[in-house]
Amino acid sequence: MNHFELATSGPAAGELACEDVPLSRIAEEVGTPVYVYSSATLERHFTVLRDALVDAGLKDPLIAFAVKANSNVAVLRTLARLGAGADVVSEGEIRRALAAGVPPERIVFSGVGKTEPEIAFAIETGVAEINLESEPELHLVNQVAQRLGRRVPVAIRVNPDVSAGGHAKISTGKAENKFGVSFSEAERLYANASNMAGVRPVGVACHIGSQITDLAPMEAAFAKMRGLVERIRAEGLHLERLDLGGGLGVPYFNQPEPPSPAAYAQMIARATQGLDVQFAFEPGRMIAANAGVLLARVTHVHERPEGRRFLVLDAAMNDLLRPAMYDAFHDIRPVKPRPGDTLAYDVVGPVCETGDTFTRDRMLAPLEAGDLVAFMTAGAYGAAMASEYNSRLLAPEVLVRGDRYAVVRPRPTYEDMLDRERMAPWL
Ligand code: LLP
Repeated sequence: MNHFELATSGPAAGELACEDVPLSRIAEEVGTPVYVYSSATLERHFTVLRDALVDAGLKDPLIAFAVKANSNVAVLRTLARLGAGADVVSEGEIRRALAAGVPPERIVFSGVGKTEPEIAFAIETGVAEINLESEPELHLVNQVAQRLGRRVPVAIRVNPDVSAGGHAKISTGKAENKFGVSFSEAERLYANASNMAGVRPVGVACHIGSQITDLAPMEAAFAKMRGLVERIRAEGLHLERLDLGGGLGVPYFNQPEPPSPAAYAQMIARATQGLDVQFAFEPGRMIAANAGVLLARVTHVHERPEGRRFLVLDAAMNDLLRPAMYDAFHDIRPVKPRPGDTLAYDVVGPVCETGDTFTRDRMLAPLEAGDLVAFMTAGAYGAAMASEYNSRLLAPEVLVRGDRYAVVRPRPTYEDMLDRERMAPWL
């Protein structure tokens, strides 16, 4: 469920709005391309997930929003105010979470290649746990913590070696992927960590992939995680937390319907029945994707005599990389649908490569130069993955609440872009 609907009354009746703000108003006042987020949708998704987990009997779960999905500080604060934590993978993300008001004790630091300065920063921040992805990382964290005179809570990230579907570039749970350690290694590392002065093992973690629409591989992985918890405890070691990662899919264009949060929560309760642990989760996409759109304007329609019809937009692959990178399809909706039969469009951006094609042969209501379209389900891995490729300015971000909106990241100026660079002294 999202809050991007055609307005039913008022001067913008029949037009696509975000909550009570017509998207055309944002386009006029802020310009395009622009990302627009709905506070009500963000809040609803977080609350629905938390309620589902609690209703399934998973008491007091830590829901650490995956900052990589949407790292805008106002978005993070919207979630933090509801009690969300943050799953972070870099010092930059820790700093964003802190700037948003996420308490350090709700920050989980994941990622395969944490550097020494980043680890030191996380320890000094007092994060809830550092998820360790390998043996060398365990030793590094132990050393850094001892140098700082601290004993830092850690979890061992396991790679459950299950295939979770989704695009190959975002699957993480197979042994051939770079993430985490095997179950037997996890047991050994956990025991070793218990004897180290700089770390305090508090749990185990996994994350098997993203945009998962089938609960079966998750259930298989989580059942294996339960076995691991039991074996570690049977060795007499203390373990209090089980972090089950993120990964639940969302409905993109023409994609299988993802399971509901309730079905997800019930599956977890089933797979981990009787296990007395604090659960942690790292959802990104399921919270943020449907809470955002990328709003773009049609620059022109280019019709080839031999039949192809190109809808050239002012948004490009640098603004929304997912179609080029993962062959992803986002629903595209005209902001003011025109009457008439739908037509087949190849929807493209202005960047100089063929990969800058959002979709081909998409049936859309007729569109003309100057019309607005919204890429739906763009609130996760949209702005967060944007770049300035082709020296295009980063699209601004707008947060809507009811009938108000705020520009929460303004569009930079060309001066900002050029001011970041320095001339080499010999030039
Ligand atoms: N935790 C860890 C350790 C992760 O690596 C990820 C995502 C998440 C949590 C959040 O997963 P989610 O709930 O959002 O599925 N850029 C890609 C997605 C990459 C996901 C990477 N890891 C895309 O646009 O589809």
